[in-house]
Amino acid sequence: MGSGTAHGDPVTRHPSSAPEENAVNAVPQSLLPDSAEVIGGRLSVGGVDVLDLAAEYGTPLFVYDEHQLRDRCREAVAAFGDGVAYATKAFLTTAMAKLAHEEGMHLDVATGGELHVALRAGVPGERLILHGNNKAPSELAMALDAGVGRIVIDSFVELDRIEELVAAGAAPPRVLIRVNPGIDAHTHEYLRTGISDSKFGLGLASGAAEEAVGRADTSPAMELVGIHAHIGSQVFDADSFRRAVGALAPFVSRCDLPEFSIGGGLGVAYVTGEHAPSISEWAEAVKQACSDGGIMARLLAEPGRSIVAAAAITLYTVGTIKEIPGARTYVSVDGGMSDNPRPSLYGSGYEAFLPRATDARRPTPVRVVGKHCESGDVIVAEAHLPADLRVGDVLATPVTGAYGHSMGSNYNMIRRPPVLFVRDGEHRLVVRRETYEDLLRRDV
Ligand code: LLP
Repeated sequence: MGSGTAHGDPVTRHPSSAPEENAVNAVPQSLLPDSAEVIGGRLSVGGVDVLDLAAEYGTPLFVYDEHQLRDRCREAVAAFGDGVAYATKAFLTTAMAKLAHEEGMHLDVATGGELHVALRAGVPGERLILHGNNKAPSELAMALDAGVGRIVIDSFVELDRIEELVAAGAAPPRVLIRVNPGIDAHTHEYLRTGISDSKFGLGLASGAAEEAVGRADTSPAMELVGIHAHIGSQVFDADSFRRAVGALAPFVSRCDLPEFSIGGGLGVAYVTGEHAPSISEWAEAVKQACSDGGIMARLLAEPGRSIVAAAAITLYTVGTIKEIPGARTYVSVDGGMSDNPRPSLYGSGYEAFLPRATDARRPTPVRVVGKHCESGDVIVAEAHLPADLRVGDVLATPVTGAYGHSMGSNYNMIRRPPVLFVRDGEHRLVVRRETYEDLLRRDV
């Protein structure tokens, strides 16, 4: 079992059986993409044999179940209604932006770069919502030029910047004020954003939120339409969201604005024994908390991870196996922290399995590491794999659809992997593998 995740409060995890037992069992179906099928041990996703994809495109390789991406978008729209946005930072390519747009989601973009990709994908400006704790004047200008639907204000200086741009001729935008509720969500320290000691949002307790609402409300350079809060990411327990809504309710009610956004942050299960609420369950819990707190505003949200994480697997090839007597066995694959930095950044846990023997028991404890010149370049710290593991095997990690591709890098001049969407027995390449020439493209 890929234990060692720093995510999730132990109280909110419900191991279904003893850890050792989980460890040796086959990877649970619940962690595989919805369309996963095992035929003679071999894994297919979207009706496509993933080993065939590895042979055709090489590894590392991201494979996304397209129907699953679409289903999660539809679930979010059904649960929250029009206005719910996909947080593109979790995974963004033009294909993904188009898909989320086609399925009726708005898109949350947090930089000029994300804005550019979304616009180039053909998403109309009015379907975009701009975020960021330090939006440059040039990014705000781009957003106003594109006619973005909403800007979420995160500082006083941003109010000044918008006023300047509107004075210079831009059309006044609709804005929400991002409020920091002072809530400690149960998640990794780096993924908490709702505590008062945070770079995000305007504090409720300090009075900054109130002051910003007052300024935006009276400014002719913008139309204030709502309050926004985002308490953190990979939050498993609905209770953290309930507490945030409870803490915000008196303020939100007093502001009496048409919209209230709860942000994103819903957690997903990464390893055996973890369970997270569905998007619909999350929406129900938040709606209930809003109604309990007397919030009349229309509820909005911007899920990222819960839309894309579980839809993808990453395929690698095992290059070396080193047994260190008295220590452990290191299994090196052909990717690493450049396609999934989450284990090194947050100590996140993953599972590993062999798609040639998907339903095989995994009795052999190993550490799956990448090929970067860094000891912290770990993919699965406490993996278990079948005993007949050998060099040349394709190894897969599930639930890699969020914050892997998007946080990937070229460290060690690694060429970033391609991305495939699979559905109904067909696959399409939506991002090609980088070439060595790509690595020189920006040198002058
Ligand atoms: N809205 C705002 C304002 C956000 O800052 C975020 C994520 C989201 C929505 C989407 O949150 P999600 O539903 O994906 O949890 N790199 C970290 C996660 C960072 C999340 C940043 N903000 C990780 O790999 O776990």
